[in-house]
Formats: sequence, C-alpha cells, structure tokens
Amino acid sequence: MTQHTHDILLQDNHLIQSFADLNALKQQGARTVISRAKGAYVYDSDGNELIDGIGGLWCVNIGHGNGEMVDAISRQLRELDYYSTFYNFTHPAAAALAEKIAQLAPGHLNAVYFGNSGSVANDSAIRMLHHYNIRKGRPEKKMVLSRFGAYHGSTHLAMAMTTPGYSEGWHAATDLVHHLRSPHYWREGDGLTEAEFLDVLIEDLSDSIERIGAENICAFIAEPIQGAGGVVTAPAGYHKRAFDICKANDIKYVADEVVTAFGRLGHFFASEDVFGMVPDIITTAKGLTSGYQPLSATIVSDDIHDVISGPDGMFLHGMTYSGHPAAAAAGLTNIAIMERDEIPQRVRRSGPRFENNLRGLMDIDMVGEVRGSHFMMGIEFVKDRATRQSYPDDAQVGLRVAQACQKRGLIGRALGNVLILSPTLIMDDPMIDRIEAILRDAIHEVAAGL
Ligand SMILES: Cc1ncc(COP(=O)(O)O)c(C=O)c1O
Repeated sequence: MTQHTHDILLQDNHLIQSFADLNALKQQGARTVISRAKGAYVYDSDGNELIDGIGGLWCVNIGHGNGEMVDAISRQLRELDYYSTFYNFTHPAAAALAEKIAQLAPGHLNAVYFGNSGSVANDSAIRMLHHYNIRKGRPEKKMVLSRFGAYHGSTHLAMAMTTPGYSEGWHAATDLVHHLRSPHYWREGDGLTEAEFLDVLIEDLSDSIERIGAENICAFIAEPIQGAGGVVTAPAGYHKRAFDICKANDIKYVADEVVTAFGRLGHFFASEDVFGMVPDIITTAKGLTSGYQPLSATIVSDDIHDVISGPDGMFLHGMTYSGHPAAAAAGLTNIAIMERDEIPQRVRRSGPRFENNLRGLMDIDMVGEVRGSHFMMGIEFVKDRATRQSYPDDAQVGLRVAQACQKRGLIGRALGNVLILSPTLIMDDPMIDRIEAILRDAIHEVAAGL
C-alpha cells in the first residue's frame, strides 16, 4: 500500500460505509480506494487499473469520465445552480427531462415525480397511491404486496418492502407490507416444471389478495429482474399474469426499474419491451443519469395523475433536491448520449455474448447457476450442484471470488454465495472476453482452496 493510500484510509476511518461489515473494514487491506475512472475502467489509489464489472453500483451505464456530461452539468450550474420544484416553482431542466421521460416511458405513463434515490422513488410511489386512494374515498386501501428476494431500498418504507432478511430485528413497517413467494425457480421450484411453478406463484398472489382483501391493497411492487436478491428472473409470463390479476382487483402494479431501465436489458424501459406489460407506475434511478448525479423518477399513469391533481387538495410530499437542476441536466444529456450512440441497441448486440460467456462457466463444478440477462448477471456458487447445497455463510465464497477477481483486474460484487456482474454498457468484445477469463481463473483459485 502506498503512503498516499495509507493517508486516505486514515481519513476514511471517519466514514461509515453502506451495507458493510464495519468491523471487518478495520482490517488491513479490507477497503479499496477508487480515485479515478475512465470509460469501462476505474483506478485505485495505488494506480491499479480495474474493469468496473459492477458499473459503480449498476448505474454507470454510459461509462465513466464522459466529458459531455461534465460540461452539461457545469453549464447548468452556471445558468441556474438550484431552484426547487416546490409550490408553484419549476425550472427548464426539470420540465424538459419530465417531458423526455414521459416520451420514453410506455403507454399511459406520462407524469414524473423526481427524487434523489431509488429508495425515495419507491417511497414516493406508495405515498402517491395512498394519496390517490384517499382522494378516491377508500383510505383503507394501503397495503403493499412485495416478494421474498426483493430489494426496493433503504428508507423505512422501502426497507419494509425489501425482503425481510434486510430488516430483521428492526421495526419495519410490516403492517403495510405482505411478502409473496420468491420467484426463483432453481431454488424454489421443488420438482415442478417451470410452468407449474409459475402457477404456484400466481396462486400465491391470488390467495394473498383474497385473504387480505383487495379493498386493503394499494399496490404490487416488483423488479422485472430481482437485483440485490441475487439476480433472479421470474418464470416467463410471470409479470404479465401478475399484472392481469392486479388489474382485475384494482391494485396498481409498480415496476421497480431502478436497475433494469436505461439500457441494462437493451431498452430504455424493460417492462413493456422485454416483459410485455405496461405497469401503472415505473420507478427508476441509477442509469437515468448514469450515476453522474443523484436522481430518481416515479413515473405514473394518467389515471393516477388525474386523481392526485384533481380539484380541492394538496399533494403533501416533497424533497428539497427533487428535480435538482444539475441532476436534471445530467439526465437529459445522458439520454441524448444513449440515443445518439445507440446504447440500448448496442446492449442488445453485445449482451448475449456476455451472457453466453458467463454461462460457459457452468463447466466449473462449484458454479451452480448462472442467471440474469444482458448486462445484469449473477453467478451462484454451490458445494454440490446436483443437490444445490450451499456453502456455509462463513466460507464467504462470493467474497473470496470477488477478491480473486480484483487481484486480476476486475471488480465484481459479492452477495453471499452469489457474484454479481453489472458492468458499464460500453464494453467491447475483447473486454467482455477478458471478464470471462478473469472469472474462470479466479473461480478455479477459490475452488482449489476450499
Ligand atoms: C431494484 C432497486 N430498487 C431500489 C433501489 C434503491 O436505490 P437507492 O440505493 O438509489 O436508494 C435499488 C438499489 O440498488 C435497487 O436495486
């Protein structure tokens, strides 16, 4: 470790990291200081080049260090550094971005509420639906159906909608949320065919609605592909069937596209283009600005907007930085770059190569399942593939593979026994192939030491 890195880490002793074993971080060599970035790569404070295999945090979609983004943000700050979207105020960048998002979003999703994180986007969706139902004279229609394995964020309500493992012992707003079965066929399918498993999931949804009462449920929230739950794809047709049941019961479908939007699955939004359904609300963040500025959007249907903007009533919800000018400028330029450089189309071409490369790792015994789509992939390691027996948590297999990758120049993200890969969307074929080669070496090294 260089003196430079040592000095940064001394200062860093005052920083509390997120989703970390804070005690383990005190150990020598546990933290990585990322000090600069360009394109698909980041550089640590000792000067090592690393492929950013997780795109920052599944967000740096157009790649790092884009000068156009920097110019657009600084131009905006010179023109108008800050003004709010509270009360009767608005500003040109927020207005233009709202219009652009409404054009890109499917169907009748035409009104946009800005926030500054995916968590806030999801909280805002539920608060809007509560408001919507109060205005419709049915204030008891408040509960949310979510799913085991979901990740919807870290604010209080978003945490309650997230899979219960994230809030154990904490006082989550569980009276507001009911968790449906995990849609993970490989882990939960139990000898059923995928079609039979789908029926079981849909029955669970219908039974839950009947038990709780549709009159008490405002929303069903689902990620098109569960991300932080280990990159879990539901059986084909799941989202459409779930949507139809929700619609029949007057329950709004909230698609959490915080990760899946803005190109990661090859489209600006995945709900309609990949999964064939138009939800009532889409929440998004991350790739909306490719991480250059913190910004989220809760995009709602005309029906919801008409009710919450009807006569006689205030919408009592707001965050100081909702639609911040610099963030809105970043969003507009990011989308313009994606359109001009055809990033979603590029992902549709190169994503299958990434997927196929990673699926090729199934020839290594400890690789149990490779799952996901395009540039949103997970690799689960198992002790025994036939029985799907997991390694014990304290073996920290995912972490060991991530560390072995980092030694070889690739950042991956460990989540228990799963390694997540969600790189920038600008990788060329040689980079994609290099990721596979590094993973192969790293997994073999870890396997040999188990
Ligand atoms: C699907 C999903 N929803 C919501 C969130 C929360 O977003 P944020 O961390 O910006 O609050 C995340 C974050 O990873 C996410 O993956």
